[in-house]
Amino acid sequence: MSKKQQALTLEEANLQKIVSHAKEYGFVFPSSEIYDGLQAVYDYGQNGVELKNNLKQLWWKAMTQLHENVVGLDAAIFMHPTTWKASGHVDSFNDPLIDNKDSKKRYRVDHLIEGKAEEYRQAGEEAKAQALLDKMNELLNREDFEGLRNLIIEENIVCPVSGTANWTEVRQFNLMFATKAGAVAEDSMTIYLRPETAQGIFVNFLNVQKTGRGTSMKIPFGIAQIGKAFRNEIVARQFIFRMREFEQMEMQFFVRPGEEMQWYEYWKQKRYDFLRAIGLPENKLRFHEHEKLAHYANAALDIEYEFPFGFKELEGIHSRTDFDLRNHEQYSKKKLRYFDDEIKQSYIPYVIETSIGADRLFLAVLSNAYTEDIGVDAKGNEKKRIYLKFHPAIAPVKAAVFPLVRKDGLPEKAREVFNLLRYDFNTIYEERGAIGKNYTRQDMIGTPFCITVDYQTMEDNTVTLRHRDTTEQERVAIAELPRIIGEAVSFRSILTQLQ
Ligand code: GAP
Repeated sequence: MSKKQQALTLEEANLQKIVSHAKEYGFVFPSSEIYDGLQAVYDYGQNGVELKNNLKQLWWKAMTQLHENVVGLDAAIFMHPTTWKASGHVDSFNDPLIDNKDSKKRYRVDHLIEGKAEEYRQAGEEAKAQALLDKMNELLNREDFEGLRNLIIEENIVCPVSGTANWTEVRQFNLMFATKAGAVAEDSMTIYLRPETAQGIFVNFLNVQKTGRGTSMKIPFGIAQIGKAFRNEIVARQFIFRMREFEQMEMQFFVRPGEEMQWYEYWKQKRYDFLRAIGLPENKLRFHEHEKLAHYANAALDIEYEFPFGFKELEGIHSRTDFDLRNHEQYSKKKLRYFDDEIKQSYIPYVIETSIGADRLFLAVLSNAYTEDIGVDAKGNEKKRIYLKFHPAIAPVKAAVFPLVRKDGLPEKAREVFNLLRYDFNTIYEERGAIGKNYTRQDMIGTPFCITVDYQTMEDNTVTLRHRDTTEQERVAIAELPRIIGEAVSFRSILTQLQ
């Protein structure tokens, strides 16, 4: 087995652990699983939805509450089809693909060539890898599909399934899903499921600006949005990393032309700080500046995270110039200009965009939290403990309350504690099962606090409070619980790091 194959197997095994854990503990299920699932579509279970909501709320607050000049929006998924003509998605939102005639498998051309470059890199041939990537970028920029096919053949790139180089021509494939609006065939109109949320912001730019408060809606200002996006991804793999239906958290920041690079740097730092504050470690994050720029950008970078399958894009920061607003102005024939009081000029603003997938952030946070500790049990035997080490503010469940036994008034007392906490925190009450097993189950879903009501509670109103990461237990007064838990799980502890 080659080094690369070994590495892949290890990566696959690491990802598989996360996928299995996510399913077993109610985080993520394959969509319509009873019908064997639907490729690249997933459902969030009882713990997954809580975790995802926490991440979305934190992003929302970090963007809007912490920036006086950023406001929210919730635009529809369906938009007038001309939107996508103006944005360039009808003509340019394509992936060049190639099929292997023997295996009948379809691949993205850039993925195949990048795979070969990675092989060179692993063999220590850095210069060769870079030359190959440069050549690929040049051909992609020129849309030279014959050249790309020749490059694949010259480099002897073979299909990982059939092992042959029996390739078809390279073809373009548009990633937008189309559907029909209107019941009568003649009147129906082809509309698209939005492939990004950003265009809903662009077309509402003046609505928001004109209806906003004076000082906050002066340039520079931003509009933030969370919503579903859809892409007919060809190579759908790596769990929720690349989905066909996913959720984006995007913000467009409108600036004076010529000032875009300073805001690009500002948001690059802000977004990095956010990812660090929610618990992603420094050594698993890095920046990657784009060499091949998208059709709308004059600068772009990815914040990459080290997923179980290597460093991959988590978030994009793009300087989109005035590309979108200018095109919407041209196609809609409506002025999309801003009159800048300070310089007495009217112009189409430039835009810095921050764009992160809620699902990708979820995967980053989940895989980072997954922890296996090897310890020793009471008999001195090696024992593995698995737990999810979430920042308490994003953990799906904040506290679980158990009575030690189901008699002598302990369940009633435990319910009192549960009622004290449930209005402020997502709390679980459980009276079945042994305490040890209950602790393990809460570790598996990352609950930071477990509270046990025992006989001593009945005498002095104290409980044992167990901490997830250390498994240490302390005796605390019931009346102290809201404060202790409240301080640990408050969004404040994250948001104050971002000022
Ligand atoms: N508006 C700009 C835009 O959409 P993008 O780089 O294509 O840019 C932005 O996407 C982010 O959306 C990515 O960094 C990623 O987090 C997320 N994303 C994109 N495609 C995705 C997919 N198929 N599945 C899950 N997340 C995706």
